[in-house]
Amino acid sequence: MAKTQDELKEMVALKALDFIPQNGILGVGSGSTVVKFIKAIQAQGIKVEAAVSSSNATTALLEEIGVKVLDPNSCEPYDVYIDGADEVNDDFEMIKGGGACLTREKILASMAKRFVCIVDKSKLVQTLGKFPLPVEVIPMAREQVARTLRTLGGNPVLREGCITDNGCEILDVHGLSITNAKELEDKINAIPGVVTVGLFAHRGADVVLYATDDGVVERTK
Ligand code: A5P
Repeated sequence: MAKTQDELKEMVALKALDFIPQNGILGVGSGSTVVKFIKAIQAQGIKVEAAVSSSNATTALLEEIGVKVLDPNSCEPYDVYIDGADEVNDDFEMIKGGGACLTREKILASMAKRFVCIVDKSKLVQTLGKFPLPVEVIPMAREQVARTLRTLGGNPVLREGCITDNGCEILDVHGLSITNAKELEDKINAIPGVVTVGLFAHRGADVVLYATDDGVVERTK
């Protein structure tokens, strides 16, 4: 029987518990799938020694269930980062940032030996870009960044009422069909005033877990 997206997210969140390291630090992303993952940690009574967190919301939830959250500055590179995505392609490149947490997510992903991406099947795509690409910007640079993004073929739209955990704004770039994600990641990162682009191509996922009506599929690079 066809499952709802919510049920699929729950399935993949549960499967992700298998990837929690027995000792050491766990990197935890943000978003509704991750919320289900954190709830599953609590429900199954899984011990997490310590975590690094990609958003204030995730930190609050982790602390609520008794997980110690560390400042990444006090940590060495760690084993596993678990996070959702808005789109994932066959090369395990992703669009992230639908929840506006892309900068901290990218920092934690860069510190992790293994990135485990947890999604439902609707997030799998051939070509990235149907989901508007989030770009976190320094507020005073917003219009100039938007002009430059237009020259790259996108249509940037300010995410109204959204201030990130870093005090910045988000431009959601519509109308892109991303055939070379690494190149576009580099180009957008190089625009003055851009904090982070939500393309995770240079540091993509190592494992993609995706939930289907028939169960969770695990793909490893
Ligand atoms: C948060 O900023 C995002 O990168 C999330 O990982 C992404 O939006 C997926 O979110 P859901 O799990 O809510 O679909």
